[in-house]
Amino acid sequence: MIKYHLITYGCQMNKSDSERIVSVLEKSGFKSTTQDRADILILNLCSVRQSAIDRVWGILRKTKNQTVILTGCILPADKQKFQNKVDLILDIKDLPRWPEKFKIKNSIPDRIGDEIKNFPEVHPDYFSINPDHSSKFEAYVPIMTGCNNFCAYCAVPYTRGREVSRPVEDIIQEVHTLIIQGYKLIILLGQNVNSYKSKISNFSLFERSLAEGQFLISNKISNFKFQISKNTSVNFPTLLKLISRIPGDYWLSFLTSHPKDLSDELINCFKECEHLIPYLHLPLQSGSNKILKAMNRNYTATDYVKLIKQVKQIKPMVAVSTDIIVGFPSETKKEFEATAKLMKKIKFDMAYLAQYSPRPGTAAAKLKDNVLATEKARRRSALNEILKKTALNNNKKMVGKRIEVLIEKCNNKNECLGKTKNFKDVKINVAPAFRQEKIRPKGRSYTIKKDLIGQFAKVKITKANAWNLEGKLII
Ligand code: SAH
Ligand code: SF4
Ligand code: F3S
Repeated sequence: MIKYHLITYGCQMNKSDSERIVSVLEKSGFKSTTQDRADILILNLCSVRQSAIDRVWGILRKTKNQTVILTGCILPADKQKFQNKVDLILDIKDLPRWPEKFKIKNSIPDRIGDEIKNFPEVHPDYFSINPDHSSKFEAYVPIMTGCNNFCAYCAVPYTRGREVSRPVEDIIQEVHTLIIQGYKLIILLGQNVNSYKSKISNFSLFERSLAEGQFLISNKISNFKFQISKNTSVNFPTLLKLISRIPGDYWLSFLTSHPKDLSDELINCFKECEHLIPYLHLPLQSGSNKILKAMNRNYTATDYVKLIKQVKQIKPMVAVSTDIIVGFPSETKKEFEATAKLMKKIKFDMAYLAQYSPRPGTAAAKLKDNVLATEKARRRSALNEILKKTALNNNKKMVGKRIEVLIEKCNNKNECLGKTKNFKDVKINVAPAFRQEKIRPKGRSYTIKKDLIGQFAKVKITKANAWNLEGKLII
């Protein structure tokens, strides 16, 4: 039996791909093990920052008799460098064909090297591989891969290739199955989900009845009429409305949006789609119009503010998170201050703050990386201070509220961790009585430990911190 060990770097897209890799490998008879015992070591890489790539060189120095396979997001320049140092570089979009490649040489690929194609087509079966979900109640469902936006700093268009949307029928089927299996949180994934577009080719009876509105039990969509026929084009808001018609007890969300593509129709979904949770991740990147232009983002700071206003009008309790890069080439102190000012104005609930690092092959890599590392660190920590304040103030508004929480983890000390509908972490105190349940098989009475994990529960919020909330279980 061949044993493998898989290490995943990067974002949810990569984590989701890894769930598909595990499924393909296990179906081919491979078994997962620790890094030391593995015959095959698979590294699913991220190229957004140099640090993950540097870590791979560290791992490669330590592997001796192991077959090493690289996959995921790898820049062409890094592929060249890794080519003779690893056994295989496999394209994730070609995952359905991996088992054939493993058959070479008694199932373990020897140092054969794989032809390095930059953007092989997405294999038609890539999206329909059944993932081996690492959670029993939260699932990430990819709806597209790749990106056409070419933001000047970003490696993704060079590592994942052009945008390809997954067929709408596949997505609905996967989400429907997950809901039947009891999944409570479904997150649709793509680099820029707002530009999702797919044509209907083969609607099943179930999907047809969804579209024609026979599942209106759990649905408050009023003016949504969807005429289906072959070749009807489905955009992202329509996909959300279709999924929202699937009955069940679940939350729906999506990652990531691009401000230039956040349409009125999509914003209205926060009102129209009952299952859609009030949480929006909308990367800002910079508050300076000059830097936004240099980043090739195609919106202004004013556009961004308008969008957030519009979303908050429709869904007042929405929580907004963002991505920001400090120290982009030529960013002056004044331009940085524009970002700081905008952060204060928008009052984000969460922000992923990155210091700019040049990625080989991108447009920005040709510009001089002229903001000192110490200055980048200073700017990042200044933004973090603003975030701490706005996040805490937003969280304080939730104190005293009784809200629904999805329980994710529990320890033995009557403490659980969960997520609110607007995607905030909550530490929950659970009175012992809530952790127990009486059962009476054959007339006898037993008390067993009740499993709260993966369930919705009512929690009263008692305290607000900047990065999380605290509360106690009430139902
Ligand atoms: N598709 C998403 C995320 C892409 S990568 C989007 O469009 O926003 C995730 C985040 O990493 C980006 O939003 C950006 O803030 C950060 N990032 C990307 N390239 C970077 C670079 N060269 N240096 C620093 N941060 C970077
Ligand atoms: Fe990168 Fe921009 Fe595409 Fe996001 S939208 S993946 S930041 S190129
Ligand atoms: Fe994600 Fe990193 Fe690839 S952020 S899309 S894993 S380059």
